[in-house]
Amino acid sequence: MRTVYVNGDYLPENEAKVSVFDRGFLFADGIYEVASVLGGKLIDYPAHMVRLHRSANELGMRFTVSDDELLAIHRELVSRNGLEEGAVYLQMTRGATDRDFTFDTEKLTPTLVLFTQARALIDSPVATRGMKVITIPDLRWGRCDIKTVQLLYPSLGKMEAKKQGADDAWMVRDGVVTEGTSNNAFIVTRDGAIVTRPLSNSILPGITRATLMAYSEKNGIRIEEREFTVEEAKQAAEAFITSATVFVGPVVAIDGVELSDGKPGPVALGLRQTYIEESLKRAI
Ligand code: PDD
Repeated sequence: MRTVYVNGDYLPENEAKVSVFDRGFLFADGIYEVASVLGGKLIDYPAHMVRLHRSANELGMRFTVSDDELLAIHRELVSRNGLEEGAVYLQMTRGATDRDFTFDTEKLTPTLVLFTQARALIDSPVATRGMKVITIPDLRWGRCDIKTVQLLYPSLGKMEAKKQGADDAWMVRDGVVTEGTSNNAFIVTRDGAIVTRPLSNSILPGITRATLMAYSEKNGIRIEEREFTVEEAKQAAEAFITSATVFVGPVVAIDGVELSDGKPGPVALGLRQTYIEESLKRAI
């Protein structure tokens, strides 16, 4: 049985509880982070914590734990659960109070929950066979740059993809791809440049996206930070996604149109390899 962290306590998972009045439960008034673990160490951890602070600031949420404490909790959970490969999930909500649309943040104590999930990240089937994606309209709210726990639309989008025999969905707003349900979207042009849309309120500023872009620049791969349409993506040499739990996931079909002969492309696989190697060097 896993040990999870809830508001200062390490508990067996079946004893870990939060209030029915928690605003995370009633209003999705919560933020989260997912940091992956390789060889028992945290990947891209400092950047995930910078984004957590940003999410809290944007929502005017109080931050009641120090960065040192947060790192210690992550490490304690990895150690107590013997986690070698997988992820640590962290969720922070505004706190519990009687149900009311208005609230007084200063009077609330944020709820903090962390747990681990063991999962094979390096030997993942997604990397060997690639992912098929469908496209769906992006019907999320206007602040997708904040990592909130309002994940119903992405969750339903992924279910629609499964129903259609695909692995995930890319969302489309104003004729251009925003991002995947839980990842950032990239295409590779015929002349080998990688294209991903610029950051805005419409997408999550992915940590893996940022790290990968830095590695690509170092490796002399040209990056075009611009919007792209579904049509352009279908005609691209390759496509891939980035996220903390998949790293770089090659996309082999978009709405049934095969890319790079339906097999993971060399650019995506190369970037995946680079990302894993570099991340292992920097893991903490
Ligand atoms: N999802 N875009 C969205 C909408 C996401 O939910 C995520 C991450 C990303 C990629 O961000 P990062 O590289 O920082 O993981 C982009 C996490 C993994 C999740 O919800 O499980």
